[in-house]
Amino acid sequence: MQRILVVNPKGGSGKTTVATNLAGYFASQGDHPLLTDNDPQGSSMRWLRKRAPQQALVHGIAAYERDSRVTRAWQMRTPADARHVVVDTPAAIQARELPEMTKSADAIVVPVLPSDIDIHAFSKCIADLLLIAKISRNENRIGVVANRVKRNTLAYQSLLRFLATLRIPVIATLHDSQNYLRAAECGLGVHEMKRNEVARDLDDWAPLLKWLRDKECAIGADAEPAGFMPATA
Ligand SMILES: Nc1ncnc2c1ncn2[C@@H]1O[C@H](COP(=O)(O)OP(=O)(O)O)[C@@H](O)[C@H]1O
Ligand SMILES: [Mg+2]
Repeated sequence: MQRILVVNPKGGSGKTTVATNLAGYFASQGDHPLLTDNDPQGSSMRWLRKRAPQQALVHGIAAYERDSRVTRAWQMRTPADARHVVVDTPAAIQARELPEMTKSADAIVVPVLPSDIDIHAFSKCIADLLLIAKISRNENRIGVVANRVKRNTLAYQSLLRFLATLRIPVIATLHDSQNYLRAAECGLGVHEMKRNEVARDLDDWAPLLKWLRDKECAIGADAEPAGFMPATA
């Protein structure tokens, strides 16, 4: 069982895009992943509702809703057939919420856009993860995704310069691509679309998926068995 938290308090940085595409990827690989949506806007749950019945199963939990008929732990339980849990988070998350939210995450994926405002918000997010959630760089749990990149732009160059100072791995660079909009409209991930139409996007995802796979192998034998387990903080 691998738990992946996608976080960045800046809206529009690509959290839902990364979370839903990860869920789509795991589903395309034969897993029945759990996608947990902590954002009251419910974008990940909307994506899930758009999936056609013939699509591979992705479980969903609208964590922003409280179901008064069952205990919170029951509402948040991870289905036994899910080997991956992907947690989408809201914008404007408070730094004090990070310790609880990150404590059981095997991987913390932080998407960032190449823009001044986004880099500023992102640097505060990384500082909060290191200093408030007390995640050490040595744990190698945090990975940065440069998102909506247009190569050869000044904004991308300054993002790269900033990222080079961080000593946190950049695990993927995702191009600005209409395919993410097309995928979102049909409740798909790019890995579930026609390969020839998304070839460059799939290349973009390869290092991110490898980073996650390597971590999964590292957890290896002492991984918690799939089964009942609260799906979020
Ligand atoms: N790599 C990308 N290329 C093109 N559009 C993107 C990309 N990543 C995200 N988007 C679009 O940007 C908007 C915001 O992304 P979203 O994932 O909803 O951000 P967040 O969840 O952080 O608020 C959405 O319309 C999404 O389709
Ligand atoms: Mg979102």
